[in-house]
Amino acid sequence: MIMPRILVTGAAGFIGSNFVRLLLRKRTETDVIALDALTYAGNLESLTDCVGNPKYRFVRADICDADAVAPIFGEGLDAVVNFAAESHVDRSIMGAQEFVRTNVVGVQILLDLAREHGVGRFLQVSTDEVYGSLGPTGTFSEQTPIAPNSPYSASKAAADLLVRAYHVTFGVPTLITRCSNNYGPYQFPEKLIPLFVTNLLMGRKVPLYGDGLNVRDWIHVEDHCEGILTVLEKAQPGAVYNLGGNKELRNIEIVRHILSHLGQDESMIEYVKDRPGHDRRYAMDITRIQADLGWAPRVPFEKGLAETIDWYVAHEEWREHIRSGEYLTYYERQYGTGGVVGTDT
Ligand code: NAD
Ligand code: TYD
Repeated sequence: MIMPRILVTGAAGFIGSNFVRLLLRKRTETDVIALDALTYAGNLESLTDCVGNPKYRFVRADICDADAVAPIFGEGLDAVVNFAAESHVDRSIMGAQEFVRTNVVGVQILLDLAREHGVGRFLQVSTDEVYGSLGPTGTFSEQTPIAPNSPYSASKAAADLLVRAYHVTFGVPTLITRCSNNYGPYQFPEKLIPLFVTNLLMGRKVPLYGDGLNVRDWIHVEDHCEGILTVLEKAQPGAVYNLGGNKELRNIEIVRHILSHLGQDESMIEYVKDRPGHDRRYAMDITRIQADLGWAPRVPFEKGLAETIDWYVAHEEWREHIRSGEYLTYYERQYGTGGVVGTDT
C-alpha cells in the first residue's frame, strides 16, 4: 500500500524519532510530516539526520491545539501515527493532569480531525500497561480486560477506548498497537535502561526500585517500529494488535547486563523505595499479529542491548545536551523564535 503523506505525532520522542527514520529509509516515496510540541521529552537533536531530506518536514505544534494541527489535516493525510504522549509512569504519579490533557484530550482532538478530514488510517500507539499487572504466569492477549494501575496507563487506556468508539460510532479507520517495553537509541534518560547507562557513565549509582524483581518484556525499538508499519499497511480498520519482544527479564537481570557491559559491579546498585502501585509483571501474547500479518521481533536481546549501551557511550554530545538542558533550545536555534507553532518549510 503506497501512502503518499503520513503525519507522525510525537515525532521528536524516542519511538517517534526512530519511526520517522524508518519511514524515510523504507518508504522513500512518502512525505513524512513530523509533529511534536517539544515538551521536556521531545528532542529535535534526535532528528538532525533527517534535516535536508526533501521528504521530511518538522512542525512544532501541540496535539491539543486543534487550530494549529487542523491545517496539516487539511493537506490530506493518508495516515496519522500518534506517538505523542506523556510517557513516564513516575511523572504520572507526581501529577496526572498533563497525562489526561495530552494522552486523552489530545487523542480526542486528533480523532475529531481525522473524522472531519477523512484520514486514510489512524494508528494509535498504545502499551501493554493498559492490561494491568500479571502474576508469575500467563500473558496478555488482545482479549485481556483493560485494567490499568497507574495514571499513565489509565490515560493510555482511556485513549484506546476513545479510538475504539470513534471506529464503531463514526467509522474512523482506526488501528491500535499495544507494545511492551522498548529499548534502543534516543530514549530519554528517565527510563530504566538509558537512565542506568547514563548514570554509570557519570560515575553515579543506579536506583533500583523495591526488590528489583519486577518483570518486563523487552523489545528493540526497531522491531516495534517495523511492527507499527506492518499494522499500518496491512491490518483491517478497527483492529488491535499486541506487539512484544518475547523477552521477559527481571529488572535486576537488566541491571546486571548493563553493569557487566560497562565493566562495573553490583556495588553501583542502590536499592530504593518502590514505585507506588508498581506493576509486577508484563508479558505479551503476540500470536495474533504473527498469524494475521506475519510480523515477529527479530533483534536478539543481548545483541540489541549491547549495541544500545554502545550507542549511549558513543553519543556523548546527545547525552550532554540533555544533561545541560541545551537540547531544549535546539528548535529556536534551528528555526528562530517564531512562537510555539512553526515549520521548517
Ligand atoms: P517519549 O516520551 O520519548 O516521546 C513522546 C513525545 O511526545 C515527545 O517528543 C513529546 O515532546 C511529545 N509530546 C508530548 N505531549 C505532546 C503534545 N501535547 N503534543 C505534541 N507532542 C507531544 O515517549 P516514547 O517512549 O517515544 O513513547 C511514544 C508512544 O509509545 C507513547 O504513546 C507511549 O505511550 C507508547 N509506548 C511506549 C513504550 C516504551 O517502552 N517507551 C512502549 C509501548 C508504548
Ligand atoms: P520504566 O523504564 O519507567 O518503564 P515502565 O515503568 O513503563 O515499565 O521502568 C521499567 C522498570 O524499571 C519498572 O519495573 C520500574 C523500574 N525502574 C527502576 O527500578 N528504577 C528506575 O529508576 C526506573 C526509571 C525504573
